[in-house]
Amino acid sequence: MAETAVLKKEIERRRTFAIISHPDAGKTTLTEKFLLYGGAINLAGSVKGKATARHAVSDWMEIEKERGISVTSSVLQFNYGGFCINILDTPGHQDFSEDTYRTLMAADSAVMVIDAAKGVEPQTRKLFKVCAMRKIPIFTFMNKLDRDARDPFELLDDIENELGIPTCPMNWPIGSGKEFKGVYDRENREVVIYSDTQKGTKEGVATSISLDDTDALLSALGQGAYDKLMEDIELLDGAGSGFDRDEVDAGMLSPVFFGSALTNFGVEIFLKNFLKMTTTPLPRVSDKGEVDPMSPEFSAFVFKIQANMNKAHRDRIAFMRICSGKFSAGMEVLHVQGDKVMRLSQPQQMMASERHIVDEAYAGDIIGVFDPGIFSIGDTVCSPDVKFEYEGIPTFAPEHFARVRQIDTMKRKQFVKGVTQIAQEGAIQIFRELNSGLEEIIVGVVGVLQFEVLKYRLENEYNVEIKMDTLPYEHIRWIASDTDISTLTGTSDMKKVMDLKDRPLLLFINSWSIGMTLERNEGLVLEEFSKN
Ligand code: G4P
Repeated sequence: MAETAVLKKEIERRRTFAIISHPDAGKTTLTEKFLLYGGAINLAGSVKGKATARHAVSDWMEIEKERGISVTSSVLQFNYGGFCINILDTPGHQDFSEDTYRTLMAADSAVMVIDAAKGVEPQTRKLFKVCAMRKIPIFTFMNKLDRDARDPFELLDDIENELGIPTCPMNWPIGSGKEFKGVYDRENREVVIYSDTQKGTKEGVATSISLDDTDALLSALGQGAYDKLMEDIELLDGAGSGFDRDEVDAGMLSPVFFGSALTNFGVEIFLKNFLKMTTTPLPRVSDKGEVDPMSPEFSAFVFKIQANMNKAHRDRIAFMRICSGKFSAGMEVLHVQGDKVMRLSQPQQMMASERHIVDEAYAGDIIGVFDPGIFSIGDTVCSPDVKFEYEGIPTFAPEHFARVRQIDTMKRKQFVKGVTQIAQEGAIQIFRELNSGLEEIIVGVVGVLQFEVLKYRLENEYNVEIKMDTLPYEHIRWIASDTDISTLTGTSDMKKVMDLKDRPLLLFINSWSIGMTLERNEGLVLEEFSKN
């Protein structure tokens, strides 16, 4: 096959997505089942040891030190049904950080896992917002139907009201918990009967009964469940807004599938339909316009930099999302921001559960490369034949703030160097009060664990001990209008600060103060994300 035909075929079969959820909704379990179908693992249960997934804060440093840089936790690649699938991990629990948001910038679509007993939860809401900002397709897997669940209509209302995205149920649950009988497949007009004998193994051949086969349905479901189903179907069909591919593509409609990841019910159907409906690698915007993923010239952008916590290996890995063309090991690339032609060192990828050196990778894939300290988040790397810069990655609003200063004032230089470098890596954000310098700073983080990382790294890498006092602020807003920050009138508990790039920002304790401040300053525009 001609080279361009191979390139096109390889890129067309790529599907790169993130799974977003609140901790415990079932993201890990669902991922395990996906891998099972891909033949990547023989038995579910090995994506990540629960011990590592659930570690307490105090264990974290030790674990991180032991495992060094883990590509494992970042992306998994496997093949299924002719597709080459890249699943991006969005760490939750203690690991929730700005990186979690940045990872979403590398995805072309998202799978949102919701616990059907709980509905939309805070972390889902936060991650959803970022996906919505990018207008990528979002598919919902309503999980844990084998347990008592909330009413399905109520769950859909919850998504629509909480997240503001209309939904389109692709199948419909019949009961839940002990009374869970299966799902009704709306497209094929048949009922797929639930059995929980498939735990941990591949989905067996599920029994399906056509909706027209009343006798069989009655004997499988019982009169009560049958009547309820008929009632539900009437309501669903009458509700109007059906499946619309264009709206799904634009991130304006979320197809919803009900199932149970643990008992492996409805997972393969979901995977198949999701792969059919989701998108091939999307074009990305550069300063020279949109870049076609199929164009032969290689290009990628850095979306995450992970520092090694191990003192003996103080290197970093830069994670890149390939946006166009093909990457071959040893090829020369241009690091646009550094204006330097180079070879990417030790490019790695995760295939199934093993980390290996990449020989070739295509648009849609993620590679991790050794970074001697030259890359920044958002940087572009491309073939030296072309030169353009991808749009930067936004800065996301931190939610926890602390005042940080060095204990030994003689160490001011190391302190400033340390916090600035760590901030440049994207691990923390630093702010200074209006009209003051960096001797005492305000640090903002998305996840509280980042405070500990900061303290640990300053002590170990820069030999600086710090004192940290948490601040009560919970919201930060960038000023997007040309309002002068010094004359702006806010609420008494509001704080005015500047970031590293000297952009003005406001810190608020509650959302009420944000509203008041907007009211008091005509023309003021506040933003939750900041485009770099
Ligand atoms: P997460 O990655 O989103 O945090 O969730 P994870 O898959 O780890 O699942 C959280 C808990 O929910 C696990 O139980 C898991 O077994 C359970 N779970 C996931 N999907 C389903 C489902 O469809 N039905 C039921 N009934 N449970 C489900 P755990 O007791 O916390 O852990 P484990 O000891 O069972 O592994």
